[in-house]
Amino acid sequence: MMTSKWYETWCGFLLALFVVVVVTGQAWGQETATVATIGVDQSGPTVNRNIYGHFAEHLGRCIYEGIWVGEDSSIPNTRGIRNDVVAALKELNIPVLRWPGGCFADEYHWKDGIGPRERRPKIINTHWGGVVENNHFGTHEFLDLCEQIGAEPYVCGNVGSGSVSEMMEWVEYMTSDADSPMANLRRKHGRQEPWKVRYFGVGNESWGCGGSMRPEYYADLYRRYNTFVKNYSGNNIFRIACGANSADYNWTEVMMREAGRRMNGLSLHYYTIATGDWGRKGSATQFGEDQWHATLRRTLTMDELITKHSAIMDRFDARKRVKLIVDEWGTWFDVEPDTNPGFLYQQNTLRDGLVAGLNFHIFHRHADRVSMANIAQTINVLQAMILTDGERILKTPTYHVFEMYKVHQDAVALPVELKTVDYVLGDERTPAVSVSATRNKDGVVHVSLVNVNPKQEMPVECRLTGMESGTVSGRVLTSSKMNAHNTFDAPDTIAPAKFTGAELNDGVLTLALPAKSVVVLEVKKN
Ligand code: AHR
Repeated sequence: MMTSKWYETWCGFLLALFVVVVVTGQAWGQETATVATIGVDQSGPTVNRNIYGHFAEHLGRCIYEGIWVGEDSSIPNTRGIRNDVVAALKELNIPVLRWPGGCFADEYHWKDGIGPRERRPKIINTHWGGVVENNHFGTHEFLDLCEQIGAEPYVCGNVGSGSVSEMMEWVEYMTSDADSPMANLRRKHGRQEPWKVRYFGVGNESWGCGGSMRPEYYADLYRRYNTFVKNYSGNNIFRIACGANSADYNWTEVMMREAGRRMNGLSLHYYTIATGDWGRKGSATQFGEDQWHATLRRTLTMDELITKHSAIMDRFDARKRVKLIVDEWGTWFDVEPDTNPGFLYQQNTLRDGLVAGLNFHIFHRHADRVSMANIAQTINVLQAMILTDGERILKTPTYHVFEMYKVHQDAVALPVELKTVDYVLGDERTPAVSVSATRNKDGVVHVSLVNVNPKQEMPVECRLTGMESGTVSGRVLTSSKMNAHNTFDAPDTIAPAKFTGAELNDGVLTLALPAKSVVVLEVKKN
């Protein structure tokens, strides 16, 4: 009797164990596990550092207040450019900075922005709030800013309302070392040596604020303007044509067919609009889980856009000589209450930080075609790195992700095969975890991970093929609140922290990825 009772109890225990281990384990596997296989011993394309590029337009308080305070300001500055902002931007290793627009570029006449500042004409910034632009920040000031932060300039020329000769002269003014009219004008205004200006855009959004053109018409104009964008004194220009608005595939088709051989890059603009409705874009800080989910889900549209535009480009340029330049991307919410609607000033939360991480992973995946991306915009506008209030500045969650991710610049992209569960909300679903990895020139591997699920930590297993053992360290950006953000009174509410939750054993990196987080791990071979 005793034996049989013991036997029954034991069988019952085994059955229960089976249920727990197999049935629950499978469910656990289906619902929460993420497995990434990372080809550490393989090599993909190089992640061009310009993917971490920026965009600063004469819009709202981006240039004026955000960057330029003038030499007489009480805010410490170097030749009018604020020192605190330069110091903060230098930490990001910004590779390239696009200027002066945006829509502003197609109404900008560069000669208004040179010479003694008090004599520069004032104009109306018709696109952005109708405010008066005093032209105190012009070509010399922009190129000085680039030198101060160590970024390469990307200048966008005026096709919409400017002439061919105006564009031609601007390039000569900036880059020629000859004894020529424009180079001598530059010297007269205090700059002897020409600058190197590698990246030049021939118009911006020519389908919209840049002239409302059809692609056939712009393609012809591009060919004409581009002909007069010359290479002076060894300055070899990388020519960027205006590309599509989001999913306008016909634009890409026509541009590649009619002008593909005459360009080095074709742009693409895509903004993440949480609601999908430009009329009511939602608040940057006051949102529920529905808008959290929608924002992160819609961000992934970038992947589809790049894939489809690239496929069109492949038909004309199988060798991928012409690069896709995503020179405007980021979140676009309703402006902060009581601010000028034309200034596009929005706060920036943990949600924006995750958007940045997801976009970088997409750009890494397409690094063979995407060689530059420029977030809109650096300061005080849209998805900004820095917000300013008089003499105070704060770093946003997006700033912190740019800083954490700078380790990927110019590193080799590693193939990642990812199996992850979905983050489901109602009828909507989106992959819960995103993973990207690169190897730098010293053989150090960086793995970045984003968990978009705001409620659930994700167990993650990364199988590193070709790396058995090593040391792991990391940093995490997260918070208990979806809308965590920094304010001028509490500027360090959200900042990266040390992450010690990852272990590498027998070539498998395991970690519990915190809910709503961005993690960057550094893995060094022993
Ligand atoms: O970044 C703000 C604006 O968005 C840019 O000026 C324009 O190019 C785009 O529509």
